[in-house]
This record gives sequence, C-alpha cells and structure tokens, in this order.
Amino acid sequence: MKAVAAFLLVLCYLAGSQAWRCSEAPRLSNTIQIDAGLGKVVAVTKYNRAYFLTGGRWYSLGTTGLRHVSVGPAGMWATGTSNRLYKYIAGKFQVASGLSLQQVDAGGDGQVVGIQSGNLLARCLRDSSALAYKGVGSLYWTSLSRTMRYYSCSPNNGCWGVDSSYRVYFTQRITPSSCGTSGWVNVPGHTMTMIEVSTDGSVFGVNRTGQVYQRLGISRSRPQGTAWRLVSMCMSIRHVSYDLGQLWAVTTSGLIMQCTH
Ligand SMILES: *[C@@H]1O[C@H](CO)[C@@H](O)[C@H](O)[C@H]1NC(C)=O
Repeated sequence: MKAVAAFLLVLCYLAGSQAWRCSEAPRLSNTIQIDAGLGKVVAVTKYNRAYFLTGGRWYSLGTTGLRHVSVGPAGMWATGTSNRLYKYIAGKFQVASGLSLQQVDAGGDGQVVGIQSGNLLARCLRDSSALAYKGVGSLYWTSLSRTMRYYSCSPNNGCWGVDSSYRVYFTQRITPSSCGTSGWVNVPGHTMTMIEVSTDGSVFGVNRTGQVYQRLGISRSRPQGTAWRLVSMCMSIRHVSYDLGQLWAVTTSGLIMQCTH
C-alpha cells in the first residue's frame, strides 16, 4: 500500500501541470498531521508520536502520545491522545494543565489558541501566560464565544477557523494580551475540514474530499480575501501547512508532499 502511494506520487510529478511543484518530503510513514512555522517543521504519526525535521531527517520528539502539534511564535505546543495539553519545555513535552483541548495552534502573535474537547469551544491563552509557562500551575483560557472544529492564527493577519458544519470563519484581529477579538466573518464558498494561516498570512485549507485550496486576494482592505483557488495535488490530502515558501501536505495514505510555487 505504501509502495503504491509512493508510485502514485511519482506519476503525480510527471503530471506536473500545476503552478505548485511537489515532491515527496523526507519520508515519515503514517503521518497524520504537520505544522510548519518560523522555519521549523513538526509532524505527528498515527502512532501518536511527534517528530521534528532537521538535516533532511525526522527526529523523534519523545514518547508522549500526541495527536496534534504546533510550532510558532508562542513556542511548541501539542495536544495528546487523552486531549491533554503539552508545551515543549527544556527538550520535552510537559503537561500544561488547565483545560482539555483537541487541537492547538501556536502561530499567533504570542497567544495560543485551541479547541476545547467535548464542547468544541474556541479558546485563547494570553501571550503573557503562553510565553512564560514553564510547566508549573494551571493555565486560564479565555473563551472566544464560538464553537469550532479547527482554529489557526497568524501574528498580523488574524485567525481562520472551521466550525462543526465545515463552514469557514475569519477574525481580523485578536489582541494577544487580552484575547479580545474583532468579531467573526463567515467566509462564503467552499467548506473545509481544516484551515491554516501561516506566519506571513497565507491561507490554505483542505475540503472533505481531500482537495487543497488557497485563499486569494488577501489585502489590507480585504483581509478575508476574495476567492478560493484549487491547488491540484492528484492525491487525497488530509492536512496542510505553509511556511516560508513551502507548502507541506499530508496525504490520506500518510505520505508528506513538499511543494513550492
Ligand atoms: C472538494 O473540492 C473538489 C474540487 O473542487 C470538489 O469536486 C468536491 O466536491 C469538494 N468536496 C466537498 C465535500 O466540498
């Protein structure tokens, strides 16, 4: 099965008709999620192990059972198999108690956002708490008064999320020191299972049939952009992340593709 997927990937480059050029990233079998930020790339496998890419190879980040990992200005954070939250401190994932989360994002301007497990409330951890947390005590999370299934923030270009009906939402401004938001805008058009906004404000999402979309027309006057453009991948995708010119896409078969424009 793995071999078949890798073979399809080869056919995929031959097709090469698209604006994005993809090749297989350093192999990490059975990947389910990936996050790239500030030049760093981390991923989680279906065996709930996290890895860090360096020197063209994936290195284990320890044996903590993880489901989702995120790296950004707020450091490295992860959610675990029992929805516990972890922060990477002194070379290992340490429990950050306070709230059970099923997804976390460290891409904001020092604040951390996440989705509370069970009730799916979007939550935010103020920058002062997120940056200073060193593994001691319980964290207090502000409610963003919205339920979401996926949420991602950038330092200067707001946050993007997907609700339980796969509709896309955008918040232009989230204040890192207070977690106050400027309100939510529904982004019409395609529905998505996940969406990521990168440090530079680029936005990519995956729809329920594994197709990747990029948001176009993002500008100061229209921060939510104007349209979606299909990024042809020729394999079904389950997760994407973009950073510094590289688009990382995890296929439903667990391979990672690395694409440049
Ligand atoms: C995902 O996008 C593809 C390509 O545009 C489209 O054919 C498909 O219907 C979409 N799936 C969903 C569930 O919206």
